[in-house]
Amino acid sequence: MTSEMPADAKGKFITLEGIDGAGKSTHLPWLADRIRATGRKVVVTREPGGTPLGEKLRELLLSQPMHVETETMLMFAARREHMAQVIVPALGAGRWVISDRFTDATFAYQGGGRGLSRDKFAVLEQWVQGGFQPDLTLYFDLPVEVARARLAVGALDRFERENAGFFARVRAAYLDRAASDPGRVRIIDAGQTVDEIKIILQNIISTLC
Ligand code: TYD
Repeated sequence: MTSEMPADAKGKFITLEGIDGAGKSTHLPWLADRIRATGRKVVVTREPGGTPLGEKLRELLLSQPMHVETETMLMFAARREHMAQVIVPALGAGRWVISDRFTDATFAYQGGGRGLSRDKFAVLEQWVQGGFQPDLTLYFDLPVEVARARLAVGALDRFERENAGFFARVRAAYLDRAASDPGRVRIIDAGQTVDEIKIILQNIISTLC
């Protein structure tokens, strides 16, 4: 069903999260198309990345060994640029923004996976975002063994090469974060078929649009 966007409609910020291999990237283009079909303009982006500088930082982050605090600060540096150049202007212009990962990934990977103290990145979150948060976060949840089996056997990046223990901590941190903000974070059982997940996503969009 196609309908015109109401003149006063404000953009919404949706983020997709999950451990590597959970399948969020499979669903993102479909989700964007479904929202476009309601008449909204949609910007699809990702973190780390989303701007020319952010994409350069992504290359470093995904390949170059570094201290966990350096890693965290670079994630937030990329995020600062992403918010200033892409996310905030798009939302202000009434567009919807869908980002493949945002700050929940820092809580999960640098906090859970690498064990960085929450106080450290909470300061950065406050600095970079103030109170800004996604309107909706779709967290694709999958047991670590299943996600790892799904990861392409090709070249793995610096995070994807981490061991099962790392991903178990990442998953636990995502679930914690979801439990602490149930109004924003929707947990999607990513073990279902693609078609089953599409039905769930369609229902979620219907309540938002
Ligand atoms: P990912 O989104 O999985 O992209 P692809 O599907 O192309 O592999 O890769 C980004 C990686 O960056 C992922 O392993 C998680 C990591 N990451 C963090 O560790 N912290 C963050 O704050 C963000 C945004 C990502």
